[in-house]
Amino acid sequence: MQNAKTKSATPTAGVPSPAVPRHVAIIMDGNGRWAKKRGQPRLAGHRAGADALRRALRACRNHGVEYLTVYAFSTENWVRPKLEVTGLMRLLKTFLKKDEHELHENGVRLRVTGRIGDLPPAVRAELERVMEATKDHTRGQLILALSYGGRAEIADAARSLAADAAAGRLDPAAIDEAAVASRLYLPDVPDPDLLIRTSGECRLSNFLLWEASYSEFVFTEVLWPDFGEDDFAAALAEYARRQRRFGAPS
Ligand code: FPP
Repeated sequence: MQNAKTKSATPTAGVPSPAVPRHVAIIMDGNGRWAKKRGQPRLAGHRAGADALRRALRACRNHGVEYLTVYAFSTENWVRPKLEVTGLMRLLKTFLKKDEHELHENGVRLRVTGRIGDLPPAVRAELERVMEATKDHTRGQLILALSYGGRAEIADAARSLAADAAAGRLDPAAIDEAAVASRLYLPDVPDPDLLIRTSGECRLSNFLLWEASYSEFVFTEVLWPDFGEDDFAAALAEYARRQRRFGAPS
């Protein structure tokens, strides 16, 4: 029987958290409204959103944030009009081509969380190429959540554990939080310390359901394409004022 305990699932209570989050996750919301306000097609909003992502990546570097995870395409986004979905996929390919050198110059590793197999083969191939080319970079990680759903991720983890249990490789009694955490898409990545959502919406929308259990949330009215380095710094300042207790008494 394999020991299921491979990853600690819960942060340590009572340990003071550093003022700068190690891992920031962002729900990049408001591209459509940004475009509408300007009488432009939604894709123009997504293009401006890609520029905002470049700024966020730069801000992470400047502030010493090690991991940036962005919700770029959810499992639910597949039902959007075909034109928007293909436009987003094209934008992703362009981003990978145009920004690969930035990743290398700054020692940033690219990773994906989500069901990468759902993506069009050409997009998938480009992602896999850049992930392979950056896999030894150690100064930061950019994690794109693509065809990602928090419930899908937990269901995939459960299926993987169930398969091992059915095959006799895992004792069901040994399945605990650490065992589930070890079967998530990126088990080595620390949980996000700070989760930002733009555009005034205050919900999680199936993003990092397991991993965000103890994240600090910052919601801002700013639409994602307008989100700049000052907004990022303001979110970090808000985070630094928070007291993280991880369930321990105050
Ligand atoms: C949500 O805004 C945003 C998305 C579904 C897509 C996010 C994608 C980008 C920011 C493009 C850049 C990403 C990469 C990796 C190149 P929305 O369209 O739901 O906005 P709305 O709520 O105002 O309609």
